[in-house]
Amino acid sequence: MKAIAKAHTNIALIKYWGKRDEQLFLPMNNSISITLDRFYTTTSVSFQEDLTSDLFLLDGEEIGGKEQQKISSFLDLIRHTANKHYYAVVDSVNQVPTAAGFASSASGFAALAAAATKAIGLDVDESGLSRLARQGSGSACRSIYGGFVEWNKGERADGIDSFATQVLDEKGWNLSVLSVMVEAKQKKVLSREGMRRTVETSPFYSGWLESLETDLVGTREAIQKRDFEQLGTILEHNALKMHATTLGASPPFLYWTNATVEVMQLVQELRDSGNEAYFTIDAGPNVKVICQPKDEQKVKERLQTLNCVQEIFLCHPGPGITYLNS
Ligand code: PMV
Repeated sequence: MKAIAKAHTNIALIKYWGKRDEQLFLPMNNSISITLDRFYTTTSVSFQEDLTSDLFLLDGEEIGGKEQQKISSFLDLIRHTANKHYYAVVDSVNQVPTAAGFASSASGFAALAAAATKAIGLDVDESGLSRLARQGSGSACRSIYGGFVEWNKGERADGIDSFATQVLDEKGWNLSVLSVMVEAKQKKVLSREGMRRTVETSPFYSGWLESLETDLVGTREAIQKRDFEQLGTILEHNALKMHATTLGASPPFLYWTNATVEVMQLVQELRDSGNEAYFTIDAGPNVKVICQPKDEQKVKERLQTLNCVQEIFLCHPGPGITYLNS
């Protein structure tokens, strides 16, 4: 009863921001992402009859407390469905700078969903895995697939229709995503709390929701046409709108630091001088700069001239879930 799976992180072009159901991780809006080749989590799950509790190892260290509880509750969903009540050893190795807005929870729960269902002997298709991963971390439901992925928010109260599907596979359009690290510290307002506060208190939240359909339609069209300018214009605007909602929350909060703004301004300067690049930012200070492969070296060199930049990781569209031999 052992299996190993690998899942990659993803970066949202159209952000998931706000839940309509916190227990089931049901979102207020659809989101669209690119799965990234460079960052991933490999997880092995082994259910064993003689265990008296779940054991969770992350990068070789035993993890207790809230993190372990999260993993155990997630495994409960799988044990319940399989009607098998064994505890498990979960051994995860992250190839992701954890919790600095690099979304290790996405690759983490996607890999865990895949490895645990396989280890316990459940036959789950990709949409089933996506639905399951969603209940560990919303954005994880998109990491089941490679390339360009859309999470359909669904309408139902039980969440059956809330899962992701692939829009275009990883070979369909090669784009460059430069993950620009300006800070490696843990974020102050975790996405769960940030979303809740924004939905409940920000007067700008309704504007965010109202403008989303146009962004989604434009993004799907840009992907189909491989229109980089259209895609970039929409994704940058979408990220700015998401972050604007946090400024209206009470109490207000902001994920950006001075360094974040410096990177954003450099990207806009690059564009003014004819180098097509766009930025997006998740729930943290780091920036992802998106450009076409022909420009990636030039854009990287310019970003490296900023003192605030600690490290740049060059990524491209990556694959969905893969299973490794156990
Ligand atoms: O699923 P979470 O809790 O990691 O939330 C992700 C939120 C954003 O990264 C800001 C947006 C997104 O769609 O990934």
